[in-house]
Amino acid sequence: MKDLIARLPKAELHLHIEGSFEPELMFEIARRNKVAIPFGSVEEIRAAYRFSNLQEFLDIYYQGMNVLLTEEDFFDLTRAYLDRCAADNVTHVEIFFDPQAHTGRGVPFDVVARGILAGLEDGKRRYGITWHLIMSFLRHLSEEDGFATLAQAEPWLDRFAGIGLDSSEVGHPPMKFARLFQRCREMGLQLCCHAGEEGPPEYVAEALEIGIDRMDHGNRAMEDPRLVTEIIRRGLTLTVCPLSNTALKVIDRMERSPVKAMLEAGIAVTVNSDDPAYFGGYMNANFEAVADALALTEADIRQLARNSFTGSFLPEAEKARWVEAVDSA
Ligand code: HPA
Ligand code: ZN
Repeated sequence: MKDLIARLPKAELHLHIEGSFEPELMFEIARRNKVAIPFGSVEEIRAAYRFSNLQEFLDIYYQGMNVLLTEEDFFDLTRAYLDRCAADNVTHVEIFFDPQAHTGRGVPFDVVARGILAGLEDGKRRYGITWHLIMSFLRHLSEEDGFATLAQAEPWLDRFAGIGLDSSEVGHPPMKFARLFQRCREMGLQLCCHAGEEGPPEYVAEALEIGIDRMDHGNRAMEDPRLVTEIIRRGLTLTVCPLSNTALKVIDRMERSPVKAMLEAGIAVTVNSDDPAYFGGYMNANFEAVADALALTEADIRQLARNSFTGSFLPEAEKARWVEAVDSA
């Protein structure tokens, strides 16, 4: 199965670029920028990566990205992620970035956008990896803050495929951002939303009511058969992140991952790495972990790879070309 996973072309649809920040690169950039970090070694950093919930992770995640200051930093971060994609035969990526986590500490929006976009273009040149960039709003901040960020993004919007909603879920339901989603929809952006990771099934229902185009995580949709039915009816893609789910104790062991049950129900589920530097593995490691724990068949693995392309924001002809490539691999 490991060989099959490695051989199949795959798209990654749920990845926070700041969550691919490996401790080695963090050290290098901290030194370059002469920024102090509260860790003495790469081992010390890795030892701090033990989480009992989403918030404990987010606190460390926002701390880690504090060393990112220049366009070059964001370029290097993106470049390193695309090296990992190439190694895992990930041929298309649709990645999130968190502009407010940078502008909030004084790094200009344009610096962040230029660095990441240059890194993505560089990866396309080096490996042929195609990409979409998704600007994600922080849900622990206000909707007004989100609108201000959207205004800053205005000159860049033709290079962004869509928007997302991430950070602390509980207490910050999708409807808190109903007007912002509506505005982004009117601007022609695709709508993604983290829902049902830690938040209750009601948050999944709200995301459906808003009319999102893709749901990130969505695990807790499985608690309500009406949500499952509606997700299937719409053909909505769910971007599940197995190693993230165990690292953040969304599930207590991999055997409880919803991936197999979602496949069996007919949900367009995909496998993704979320924040691989923090959760212990990139795309193929996530596939291997669920394949092992859930005894996935070759047909399941191929379906997950097909779903990653059909659930992408690629044009239909491109999707069809990649689905064929999965079938013939
Ligand atoms: N959930 C919510 N916010 C996030 C995540 C996540 O898994 N990763 C980075 N920001
Ligand atoms: Zn995420």
